Amino acid sequence: MIIAIDGYSSCGKSTIAKGIAKELGYTYIDTGAMYRAVTLFCLQNNSIQQNEINEFLLKKYIDTLHISFVYDAQTQTQQTYLNGVNVEHEIRRLEVANWVSPVSKIGFVRQKLVAMQRELAAHGNIVMDGRDIGTVVFPHADYKFFITASAQIRAQRRYDELLAKGEQVNFEEVLHNIEQRDLIDTTRTESPLTQAEDAIVFDTSNVTREQQLEWILEKIRK
Ligand code: DC
Repeated sequence: MIIAIDGYSSCGKSTIAKGIAKELGYTYIDTGAMYRAVTLFCLQNNSIQQNEINEFLLKKYIDTLHISFVYDAQTQTQQTYLNGVNVEHEIRRLEVANWVSPVSKIGFVRQKLVAMQRELAAHGNIVMDGRDIGTVVFPHADYKFFITASAQIRAQRRYDELLAKGEQVNFEEVLHNIEQRDLIDTTRTESPLTQAEDAIVFDTSNVTREQQLEWILEKIRK
């Protein structure tokens, strides 16, 4: 069974996906974390310099990247590893968020990660969240959800999260990042963020986290 959850940045996709996985005993795969890990790699290895992505250099390294997820029982969270190093904290930083959409536009990056995602899902029941899961990665997923919320509300949620993690950010900066990511994610040529025709649409703007999860679980149980 594959449950695909797509939608805009910071609209609560991952919270919903984790909740479903926990409730149903499925494996959760955060594909945004994979694009973030590649972006972190670029920032750490001079593939992003002087405000530009060096695609030639990235292409040289892309097949050496190993991305995996490890469940940490102590914190009950999933941790992202890049080439054996836990990068969960670093990939959530605003610098990575600022570069992740341009990196995700690159065709060979998408091809590589889509192949990895299909491989990760080859064993067992999966809940996968991202931008192109129901359209490209698993067009025949058993359930497809498309999550939306207003940009202001998404920015407020993201801002609160970053502050809670101790990042020094201002609200306008976070809103700008979300609007920029929406623009790049929806207009890129390679698998842009679009709603699959057979997806169930869910606007989470005025719905609590508990209500979001309950709403989706009810659809699946039906
Ligand atoms: O879900 P997220 O905000 O962590 O995703 C970070 C970025 O990764 C997002 O701006 C677009 C990109 N992404 C993508 O292009 N395709 C996916 N399946 C998942 C994420």
